[in-house]
Amino acid sequence: MASELFFRGQETHHIINAYTPKPRKPWQNVIRPVRYMLKEKRLVFLFAGIAIASLIFALLPSSRAPSGQGTYSYVNNAIYDSHLPSESTQSHSIARAHRIIYQNRAGIGSLHSGGKIPLGLQRKGLRILVTGGAGFVGSHLVDRLIARGDSVIVVDNFFTGRKENVMHHFGNPRFELIRHDVVEPLLVEVDQIYHLACPASPVHYKHNPVKTIKTNVVGTLNMLGLAKRVGARFLLTSTSEVYGDPLEHPQKETYWGNVNPIGVRSCYDEGKRTAETLTMDYHRGAGVEVRIARIFNTYGPRMCIDDGRVVSNFVAQALRKEPLTVYGDGKQTRSFQFVSDLVEGLMRLMEGEHVGPFNLGNPGEFTMLELAGVVQETIDPNAQIEFRPNTADDPHKRKPDISKAKELLGWEPKVPLRKGLPMMVQDFRQRIFGDHKEDSSSVSSA
Ligand SMILES: NC(=O)c1ccc[n+]([C@@H]2O[C@H](COP(=O)([O-])OP(=O)(O)OC[C@H]3O[C@@H](n4cnc5c(N)ncnc54)[C@H](O)[C@@H]3O)[C@@H](O)[C@H]2O)c1
Repeated sequence: MASELFFRGQETHHIINAYTPKPRKPWQNVIRPVRYMLKEKRLVFLFAGIAIASLIFALLPSSRAPSGQGTYSYVNNAIYDSHLPSESTQSHSIARAHRIIYQNRAGIGSLHSGGKIPLGLQRKGLRILVTGGAGFVGSHLVDRLIARGDSVIVVDNFFTGRKENVMHHFGNPRFELIRHDVVEPLLVEVDQIYHLACPASPVHYKHNPVKTIKTNVVGTLNMLGLAKRVGARFLLTSTSEVYGDPLEHPQKETYWGNVNPIGVRSCYDEGKRTAETLTMDYHRGAGVEVRIARIFNTYGPRMCIDDGRVVSNFVAQALRKEPLTVYGDGKQTRSFQFVSDLVEGLMRLMEGEHVGPFNLGNPGEFTMLELAGVVQETIDPNAQIEFRPNTADDPHKRKPDISKAKELLGWEPKVPLRKGLPMMVQDFRQRIFGDHKEDSSSVSSA
């Protein structure tokens, strides 16, 4: 082995001695291509190309002018950030990055840049996921989004929702319906997520309390994870129940609430409070674009009949000629918002620049007995009233302070109870008595 190595060494030495290459001239590497280009006139063509391209870019305003978009983002950031709770600089920059991704995906930057938008790149409508979209509020929201020109994917497990609520969109290429439980992960490419999936009436959310809290916690986690992954803006439909049995009246968004954490309603109340926490943590920690709505009692066509909510109960009872059941002394107050007002508020919140939370409700306050009176006026003046013992943890007073939504979203409810109730009565009458002559369940925006 040693002798072999020695032999090869000798051979190499021999070759080097036999051929000595010329010393390399490093500048030749540069000179040769330049000389070639001059000879072939390539340089002339190169400069001419650069000049033409510069001329075109100078004359045509860009549809995505980076400076314009930068200014837009900066202005938005300034407004937006001023409404955030104190956050670290890092989470601000993550949020900013997500916002820019969202704006680019949704084409918002180009819409506001002021430049010409080339044909074919005009705003095509957003792809929007509505969880719980076959339910009462969700289906009215879907109607508005489809009417606006967006593409909507409804995800619903039909626990309280009904296909009938969205059937009128079947066959529309901009509408898709997926039977899916939000407790399980889901991957769809969308620009916005309205997260409504959750049973909303006491009868339904108390039916399986563990499932209710799972829907609120795991379901919300899944949808926030999806929003983070695909860069979508996320809106949570929270509730006035986060204020519990309030000690402050009317309730402002700054009020932290008075909730029984171990009561029969806590699967819903605490579930929604946790959903709000998760939403803010994804916003601060992962920069997800989020919005939070705290919805107060809402009524209208397509509400579940017999779901234990006071308006639907009274209307169904009056139509069936049954006595109206009033729990407790009937002096507890609620505010009632018509569904088209709520949908308008949700859309303004989603499209606006403020995270929230925002109270969305009608500040007009009614006692249960006053409400029973309006139902008697509208349906049957002879309807009887029957008093029953009150249910556990039923809040005594509930009335939203909506000054924040008025100021920052330019929103306030328009439909008074006496105008909204007849629309709901007509829909209930058709569903209870099977009279399907005309579809009265759609509502026009007020
Ligand atoms: N209507 C109100 O007065 C009111 C008040 C406060 C908050 N909210 C909130 O608004 C949202 C919509 O309420 P609503 O009145 O339309 O109720 P709803 O019961 O009519 O609609 C909820 C929808 O979510 C679906 N759903 C429930 N659990 C699900 C799950 N695990 N996976 C997939 N889908 C599921 C139901 O099938 C239904 O279609 C809810 O989040 C509710 O908490 C409503």
